[in-house]
Amino acid sequence: MTRLANKTAIVTGAAQGIGAAFAHGLAREGANVVVADWNDGSETANSIIRANGAAMYVKTDVSSAKDVRAMVAATLEKFGSVDILVNNAALFAKIGTKKFTEISSEEFDQVMAVNVRGPFECAKAVSEQMIKQGYGKIVNIASSTVFKGVPNLLHYVSSKGAIVAMTRCLARELGEHNITVNAIAPGLTMSDGVLGQPDYSPEYVTQNMNGRALKRKQIPADLVGAMLFLSSPDSDFMTGQTMAVDGGNVMH
Ligand SMILES: NC(=O)c1ccc[n+]([C@@H]2O[C@H](COP(=O)([O-])OP(=O)(O)OC[C@H]3O[C@@H](n4cnc5c(N)ncnc54)[C@H](O)[C@@H]3O)[C@@H](O)[C@H]2O)c1
Repeated sequence: MTRLANKTAIVTGAAQGIGAAFAHGLAREGANVVVADWNDGSETANSIIRANGAAMYVKTDVSSAKDVRAMVAATLEKFGSVDILVNNAALFAKIGTKKFTEISSEEFDQVMAVNVRGPFECAKAVSEQMIKQGYGKIVNIASSTVFKGVPNLLHYVSSKGAIVAMTRCLARELGEHNITVNAIAPGLTMSDGVLGQPDYSPEYVTQNMNGRALKRKQIPADLVGAMLFLSSPDSDFMTGQTMAVDGGNVMH
C-alpha cells in the first residue's frame, strides 16, 4: 500500500528516535522524505534509499529561520513540492528533570526556541508552498505530559502546551487553503533519547506504564500509524486536533 506516492514529507529531528521511525513509515507509504536535523541524519536517509525509497538529509537547526528556509528551498529543488511537515524535533530527554526553581532563564529560553519557535519557523516556511499547492498536512508532535502537568519538567511541558495551542491557531489560519494541522501527544516512548537517560530509570518507566490502560512500554513504532493517518487524505476533514497516543494513559 502506498498512500503517499508522489508526496514529499519533511520530518524534523529524524536522525534518531521517533523522528527516524516517522521517516521510515512515510517512505514505506511511498513519500519522498527530507530528514531535517541538526545532528547527522544521513543514516536515516541512506537506509530509506537502500530500501528503494527517496530521501535526503538536510542539516537544519529548526530554531534558525535561515536554516529552515534553506531546508525548504532544498526540498523544493530536489522533489518539487512540500505536502507534509512533521514537526518532531525537540529538546526532551537530555534536558533532564529538575524543580522549576532550578531551571535557569537561559535554559527555559533554549527549550522554547527549539520546541516552540522551531515548529513555528517550519510551519511558516512550508505554508507558502502548501498555499500555492492548495493542499498540505502539518503534524505537530506535542506530549501527553501537557494533560498531566508532569512535575520537574516545567519548561518542556510548557513548550508542548504551546504546541497544542499553536496547532489550533494554525488550523484556523490555514483551513481556507485546504491545509490541515493536527498534533499527536505521545506517552513516554522508548526512543533513543529516552533510552540514553538515567532520569528514565526502569522504575520510572514501570510506574508510567502502570498508569496506562494498555500496560506495556511504548516504542516509536506505536506512533507511526497515527502520524500516517494525519499525513494522509484519510484525515482531510480533521484539523486543529490533538490525539493522545499513549496506551490509554490520559483520556480527554
Ligand atoms: N520519547 C518520549 O517519551 C516522548 C514523549 C512525548 C513526546 N515526545 C516528543 O517526540 C519527539 C521526538 O522525541 P524523541 O524521544 O524521539 O527524541 P530524541 O531525543 O530521541 O530525538 C530528537 C531528535 O531531534 C533532533 N533535534 C533536537 N533539537 C533540534 C534542532 N534544534 N534542530 C533540528 N533537530 C533537532 C535531535 O538531534 C534528535 O535527532 C519530540 O518532539 C519529543 O518532545 C517524546
